[in-house]
Amino acid sequence: MANTKKTISADASNPLGTLVNLWPYMWPEGRADLKARVIWATFYLFLAKFVLLTVPYFFKWATDALNGKLDMAGVLPAFLLGAVVLVIALNFTRILQVGLNQLRDALFASVGQYAVRQLAYRTFVHMHQLSLRFHLERKTGGLSRIIERGTKGIETIVRFTILNTVPTLLEFLLTAVIFWVSYGFWYVAVTAITVALYIWFTVKASDWRIAIRRSMNDSDTDANTKAIDSLLNFETVKYFGNEEMEARRFDSSMARYEKAATDVWTSLGWLNFGQGVIFGLGTTVMMVMSALAVQRGEQTIGDFVFVNALLLQLSVPLNFIGFVYREIRQGLTDIEQMFELLEVQPEVVDRPDAKPLDIAQGSISFKDVHFSYDTARPILKGVSFDVPAGKTVAIVGPSGAGKSTISRLLYRFYDIQGGSITIDGQDVRDLTQHSLRAAIGMVPQDTVLFNDTIAYNIRYGRPSASEEEVLAAADVAQIGHFISALPDGFETKVGERGLKLSGGEKQRVAIARTVLKAPPILILDEATSALDTTTEHEIQSALDVVSRNRTTLVIAHRLSTVIGADEIIVLRDGLIAERGTHNSLLEQNGLYASMWNRQREAVQAEEQLRKVRESDDLGVVLRGVPAAE
Ligand SMILES: Nc1ncnc2c1ncn2[C@@H]1O[C@H](COP(=O)(O)OP(=O)(O)OP(=O)(O)O)[C@@H](O)[C@H]1O
Ligand SMILES: [Mg+2]
Repeated sequence: MANTKKTISADASNPLGTLVNLWPYMWPEGRADLKARVIWATFYLFLAKFVLLTVPYFFKWATDALNGKLDMAGVLPAFLLGAVVLVIALNFTRILQVGLNQLRDALFASVGQYAVRQLAYRTFVHMHQLSLRFHLERKTGGLSRIIERGTKGIETIVRFTILNTVPTLLEFLLTAVIFWVSYGFWYVAVTAITVALYIWFTVKASDWRIAIRRSMNDSDTDANTKAIDSLLNFETVKYFGNEEMEARRFDSSMARYEKAATDVWTSLGWLNFGQGVIFGLGTTVMMVMSALAVQRGEQTIGDFVFVNALLLQLSVPLNFIGFVYREIRQGLTDIEQMFELLEVQPEVVDRPDAKPLDIAQGSISFKDVHFSYDTARPILKGVSFDVPAGKTVAIVGPSGAGKSTISRLLYRFYDIQGGSITIDGQDVRDLTQHSLRAAIGMVPQDTVLFNDTIAYNIRYGRPSASEEEVLAAADVAQIGHFISALPDGFETKVGERGLKLSGGEKQRVAIARTVLKAPPILILDEATSALDTTTEHEIQSALDVVSRNRTTLVIAHRLSTVIGADEIIVLRDGLIAERGTHNSLLEQNGLYASMWNRQREAVQAEEQLRKVRESDDLGVVLRGVPAAE
């Protein structure tokens, strides 16, 4: 879609400016077919208006004909002079007008829907351009509501602006001209005053209602945020039995929504009533004027009917202007937040002269890297290390030391505050994010899967992969057996965020999709942490195969998995505390050595426990054998 880069702002306090900005949505670039539809819809619209204006005339003539006072011989064709024919003609024009209006709407529907699609597309693309920080802070439920309202709002605006504003003004003018020509200045004057008052009131009242509408939107967003967050945490809610608390939290948001939404409706009632009063007074004056004229013999009863019909007809566009103004203002309020969202700038952006990564061997180098998520709390305080091409470097260290942060920085999810990160000598900040990320495969600490089939999730690593390749990748990740044992095999749905799979299964799916991606650089962040030791050993050998000849960064808690690394870096409090091979680190007898000893003890204890259990099981089995009788 062409318009993805244009910046368009919505500002409810400047509706006209916003409407000008929205023009591309009403007159879509590069879509001649839609433009043609706009033109045709406008044509039918005008036609319908003209047809509509003949209705009061037929009404007048029919009334006069019934009264025997129709004096139009020579003006109207002879076949139209009978009262019955005129009544039929009157109703036929009404039907025609309805038909023309429907034709207009049908023609215009695709323009409005295209605008919706375009805006939704822009927003979706933009969401993916925003940085990780934004997404960690976002509120999914609220966000989806803002987008939903925004796309609906744009449709309203596009539709009403084109289809109503200009033609309605034209209808006023024509009505005024008819009154002037047929009945003189005073009728025009009363009409003009009524219309002016009506519009003034509508604008004032609608502006007053905007604040109410905004508070309704805010509480709607809030309620939806709470609902989605609560449902995402379904299990946690159950663990702590906090259903009631959740329900109360949601209900208090909904109560605010209830109040605001009620206000929106009651204020609409006032608006409608005020409009009705103004218009009713204007009509009363005009009809009294006409009735007096009939009594004086200056007008026929047909004229009286005509004035009434024309006024009734005028009430329709007037109502519309009120309605349109209201809807557009509401639409603008609704899309306001969506456009604010579209204006959020991505934190990490490609430089204008960014180049694609030219990867030769894939050696990684961190030089004196300083980084903090918040300025108040440094996470990395000068970290330097190299991962030579094709080698494996392991990062270990206590929880919260900044290990996963290092992998995020390599991916350039955040920009560093000091130092440099280079791949084959190219600073990651000088590269296009796309090429950088294409070169790195990541098995993350917490795997989240798409709510689709296992096959879909594995193939995600390389969507063009063939079925055989997907199977092979699953085998490498030691999950092929498991999958083929499932009733639905590769077509098994994994559930929201992959929650229908066990932690270890999810991890293996993540490994399989990275295997499929086959990147030159590999990051394994606790890739096997959720597995039992046996499976871990099996996968470890698979990962060894995968990481052979690939530059690999391994992050691990379980030190047994990094013994073979070319270098092990011990990270503590954002600094490298120790570094070396497994053996040299043990010799240093420092942090690594103490971590190693502790884990060894744990493993030994575990093994002993297992042995005890096994013998116990044996005992149970033996005891279960019925004694010989
Ligand atoms: N998005 C974030 N915003 C603010 N602070 C963060 C963010 N992500 C992580 N941190 C903080 O940065 C520190 C390092 O986090 P990191 O995830 O790198 O730890 P880690 O070494 O991988 O720990 P673990 O072994 O538990 O996975 C932590 O103290 C964490 O609270
Ligand atoms: Mg981590």
